[in-house]
Amino acid sequence: MVKICCIGAGYVGGPTMAVIALKCPSIEVAVVDISVSRITAWNSDQLPIYEPGLDDVVKQCRGKNLFFSTDVEKHVFEADIVFVSVNTPTKTQGLGAGKAADLTYWESAARMIADVSKSDKIVVEKSTVPVKTAEAIEKILTHNSKGIKFQILSNPEFLAEGTAIKDLFNPDRVLIGGRETPEGFKAVQALKSIYAHWVPEERILTTNLWSAELSKLAANAFLAQRISSVNAMSALCEATGANVQQVAYSVGTDSRIGPKFLNASVGFGGSCFQKDILNLVYICECNGLPEVAEYWKQVIKINDYQKSRFVNRVVASMFNTVSNKKIAILGFAFKKDTGDTRETPAIDVCQGLLGDKANLSIFDPQVTEDQIQRDLSMNKFDWDHPIHLQPTSPTTVKKVSVVWDAYEATKDAHGICILTEWDEFKNLDYQRIYENMQKPAFVFDGRNIVDADKLREIGFIVYSIGKPLDAWLKDMPAVA
Ligand code: NAD
Ligand code: UDX
Repeated sequence: MVKICCIGAGYVGGPTMAVIALKCPSIEVAVVDISVSRITAWNSDQLPIYEPGLDDVVKQCRGKNLFFSTDVEKHVFEADIVFVSVNTPTKTQGLGAGKAADLTYWESAARMIADVSKSDKIVVEKSTVPVKTAEAIEKILTHNSKGIKFQILSNPEFLAEGTAIKDLFNPDRVLIGGRETPEGFKAVQALKSIYAHWVPEERILTTNLWSAELSKLAANAFLAQRISSVNAMSALCEATGANVQQVAYSVGTDSRIGPKFLNASVGFGGSCFQKDILNLVYICECNGLPEVAEYWKQVIKINDYQKSRFVNRVVASMFNTVSNKKIAILGFAFKKDTGDTRETPAIDVCQGLLGDKANLSIFDPQVTEDQIQRDLSMNKFDWDHPIHLQPTSPTTVKKVSVVWDAYEATKDAHGICILTEWDEFKNLDYQRIYENMQKPAFVFDGRNIVDADKLREIGFIVYSIGKPLDAWLKDMPAVA
């Protein structure tokens, strides 16, 4: 029986390995982590992450050919293939702080693999890493390996949160990069044969190591760039009376451009886009390509601009002050169908409103109060773009309450900010909400999910990203 061990039981390691176990009953899969609480949760009925369809997959395989354990060394020792799916966040200190990927976790996993291995292994980079990381990992493994042979593969993950199981069942492509040597080709084939259990052969792409590593950063940069492009257009739409949804539709019907990923929003969030673009920017700078670095940096600058533009719009519309006004925040996760708040635009928007002394009442169907309070009290690290929002002090955190119901959040509020596109926010009883709010009552729809005309009929003043402005909003221009 082939044995797989995956180091890192997070948003990628957990779901990816659960799907491999489900699709390959003849393979034994162990997912290991240094975090005891995460592994305990994976072994319980309350999984550590919320992801539609995940419970079902885990229930079918856990205890049969899928195991979650903190005994990292034992499972690495026994494995034929070791996936490394540890976090690779942006460095916050030292050389490259604010841009470079922090490979501390990766390096310590590689050193541990070298230490405990007694047989040849394939080591798979599942984490998103800077191009050329495989070379560094190879050095660590071969300098400590006591004659054991390691083959390094790059197999970046393209799943998106909220649709992880769907994406893993039916991926656009699986990408495997390896050394162009007989041993490298053999290792690529071994990994390919695992995915071939359920992924059609033509969708399994094989490349050299560096192409696979760079393709992951490039894919995320292209995706984020589309969002920043449509968000940049949204500002121009508001200034001119065009409607960004009509513009995006018209642009997207060109088959060379395509319709997906053109939803204007309050800004993109999530643990990947910003981190991976910063990493790309850093790599460009290190390779003496400042113009290329500048080009990609702009994607993040527009994203920052979009978030502060939203805050300014809220404040400007409400007579240029939200001091001591209750603002309801509907949605805190970085997108619907996840409880993940990493880099969510809600953090920046809430901090911006708190900077203007608002009282916030926050509701998200999947994010806990603890998580929200922690996110709002952390200091953002700086990089070489001006930090646009003030860090929140403990006093301002007292101005935040987290509630478990949209009606409670909006009661007596002056305004509502919709920051995550949860389906349930489309069908709220807005008449009831309006009656219980201060007047004039505002809705700022950061995801363009509500029927603005219907809300206007009720009496709300409505702001939708990139749509023609109400007379009220036109009279109260926001300066970005
Ligand atoms: P995560 O933080 O959810 O999980 C990483 C886990 O690794 C943590 O539980 C941590 O405790 C564990 N870990 C760290 N060092 C360890 C060690 N030495 N030994 C054992 N366990 C260790 O991160 P994630 O969101 O799953 O992301 C993992 C990687 O995948 C990152 O490089 C990320 O960029 C990439 N990625 C993420 C997504 C996504 O949607 N989240 C999608 C594609 C790629
Ligand atoms: C992303 C990539 O899509 C995925 O391939 C990669 O493996 C990890 O990073 P994820 O961050 O989980 O996935 O979600 P994604 O659906 O890409 O959304 C990212 C952010 O962009 C969210 O905040 C989302 O709301 C926003 N977004 C997305 C928009 O604002 N407009 C869009 O049209 C699409």
